[in-house]
Amino acid sequence: MSASVVVGAQFGDEGKGKIIDFLADHADVVARFQGGANAGHTVQVGKDLYAFHLLPSGVLRKRTMNVIGNGVVIEPAQLLKEIDETRARGHPVTNLRISDRAHVVMPYHKILDGLEEKLKGDMGAGTTLRGIGPAFEDKVGRFGIRMCDLIDPEVLHAKLRAIVPIKQRLIEAYGGSDRIDADAVFSEHEAYGKRLAPFVTDTSAWLDAALKRGKRILFEGAQGTHLCIDHGVYPYGTSSNCVAGAATVGAGIGPQYLTDIIGVAKAFTSRVGSGPFPTELEGPIAEHLRERGGGEYGTTTRRPRRVGWLDLVMLRMAVRVNGLTRLAVTKLDVLGGLDRIRVCTGYRHDGGILKEFPASMRILSESGPVYREFKGWPDLPEDEWIGIASGGRRALPETTQRYVAFIESQIKVPARILSVGRSRAATMGR
Ligand code: IMP
Ligand code: MG
Repeated sequence: MSASVVVGAQFGDEGKGKIIDFLADHADVVARFQGGANAGHTVQVGKDLYAFHLLPSGVLRKRTMNVIGNGVVIEPAQLLKEIDETRARGHPVTNLRISDRAHVVMPYHKILDGLEEKLKGDMGAGTTLRGIGPAFEDKVGRFGIRMCDLIDPEVLHAKLRAIVPIKQRLIEAYGGSDRIDADAVFSEHEAYGKRLAPFVTDTSAWLDAALKRGKRILFEGAQGTHLCIDHGVYPYGTSSNCVAGAATVGAGIGPQYLTDIIGVAKAFTSRVGSGPFPTELEGPIAEHLRERGGGEYGTTTRRPRRVGWLDLVMLRMAVRVNGLTRLAVTKLDVLGGLDRIRVCTGYRHDGGILKEFPASMRILSESGPVYREFKGWPDLPEDEWIGIASGGRRALPETTQRYVAFIESQIKVPARILSVGRSRAATMGR
């Protein structure tokens, strides 16, 4: 009876998909518990790259069951597209269960996402435009359609009849010109419901039974701690709780099962979307990180990611609000070839040093980083990094070891997993 949670320790895109894939070897079930198709998890198997938005990252493993929990918002067309594409590449995708309590992202949510972003001006988060915010607004406002409704045509029809006119008025109030036809939305979604129905079940009960049978569950977080609706950079984050505790609510299991809480952090910082970013870099070092990062472009939106030095103020907070028991550091290879590497240990603000991440975006944007400087390590070719990861003769460069040891000493959590390349073979446990 054990459950591990993997969460992002930064702004998302830390390489969680790869770490999940690595840990999934020891898991019977991989479960998503928050977010939606805004997520983009990249998994590489051999030379094949897969980018999932809604499918949990264990779906490529035959013996692993995959659960989309009640805390996820599901865009049916997107989920079906991922299922179809993965099937076309030779994976049957029969190892999937979807919560009957998960909320559905509807076409009007995507329209409203775009309109809200435009009206918000400087308060806009630069969303993925996947309708995430409006879908969670409807969940909390109790206007939502859940998976149990999607697969029940009568209920779906009645709900759409009631909700669509309200959304139409909202769209008009926001200055939008889209017209929504409740009957057209109904027939489209009735068909999605029919296709998804075989996967839909009470996943809370299913997970509980699995845990009681001794199955090992791996909870797959999406986005990251600093995009969390409560603990992230408000209002520039996402609309769900991205921290480890959310796994219990978003999957319907008790908190006593969560014993292993893994935070994933990139060896530097990156983010897509707007908001203050104290260690942000521009110029040649930023170009180095973006380009060697195998293309630091959003998996979901393809936008270039903003990049900067590693920020330990952010990481220390991630340790605290998630209760991290271990850390995975990814993309260490990407820093290779830089002369000097910097790490932020605190923020300079108003004549003092801030050790805790501020709530106020004004204070955050006025904060300047306090840096510790490290000697860099060489830019090794991919196969050398893989050799190091597989415990070959060559050890991790001394300077890399010093960098990782400094992170550990600052956050007081062991870095048990290091990733030094894209492929499965470039991941090392310690
Ligand atoms: P939303 O989640 O689409 O509403 O976007 C809100 C903010 O979170 C934007 O700044 C997005 O760029 C960011 N975001 C959402 N999902 C992800 C993700 O999976 N990785 C990185 N950033 C994300
Ligand atoms: Mg991502």
